[in-house]
Amino acid sequence: MAGRVTDAPGPPVDPAGFRRLMARWATGVAVVTTRADSADAGLTVNGLLSVSLRPPSLLVSLTRDADTTPLLERSGSFAASFLGADQRSLSERFARPIPSAEKFSGVAVHRGRTGVAMLDGSLGAVECRVVSTTPAFDHVLILGEVVAIELGPDRAPLVFQHSGYAEVDREGRLTLPRPRS
Ligand SMILES: Cc1cc2nc3c(=O)[nH]c(=O)nc-3n(C[C@H](O)[C@H](O)[C@H](O)COP(=O)(O)O)c2cc1C
Repeated sequence: MAGRVTDAPGPPVDPAGFRRLMARWATGVAVVTTRADSADAGLTVNGLLSVSLRPPSLLVSLTRDADTTPLLERSGSFAASFLGADQRSLSERFARPIPSAEKFSGVAVHRGRTGVAMLDGSLGAVECRVVSTTPAFDHVLILGEVVAIELGPDRAPLVFQHSGYAEVDREGRLTLPRPRS
């Protein structure tokens, strides 16, 4: 087909440049959790997209490198807890390459319908059953049908941009991170 971008001559896209560009894209942050073999696992994500309302569904993009990914595929269900600006330390904790038990140690959670752990005090959370898993290069796209939702206290969200988090003041106003040169 004429005009396809993939047919355009030119150098390949530099991944570092792509990363710099995507760093300008501000996102919310969630902790995706699952429960497999009676153990909790979870990781911080910003690759999350609401897909449809009928039925309610959402997509998360997980790296194959994450320990949580195969566990989530095996369990067939997961939850996503949407973080408030005051929950930055949870985002940092669940992004660390540490054992799952350490991630959850001392963290207040409650259990959803499927037994999955959801983080207390989040803006809200969804519980999903996995509808499909689609390989996407070094990631896997997990499509979930939402089986339950809960709304927590509404306030400033945790916002990620330029590889950092927005600061929140007492009035709940956000200041975005400065671009890194
Ligand atoms: C703000 C932020 C967003 C992230 N988004 C994603 C994401 O969308 N998908 C992903 O696979 N990893 C994402 N990560 C990285 C994982 O949280 C990280 O690799 C984690 O250590 C994986 O944990 P696990 O190996 O215990 O599963 C993100 C990290 C941060 C700090």
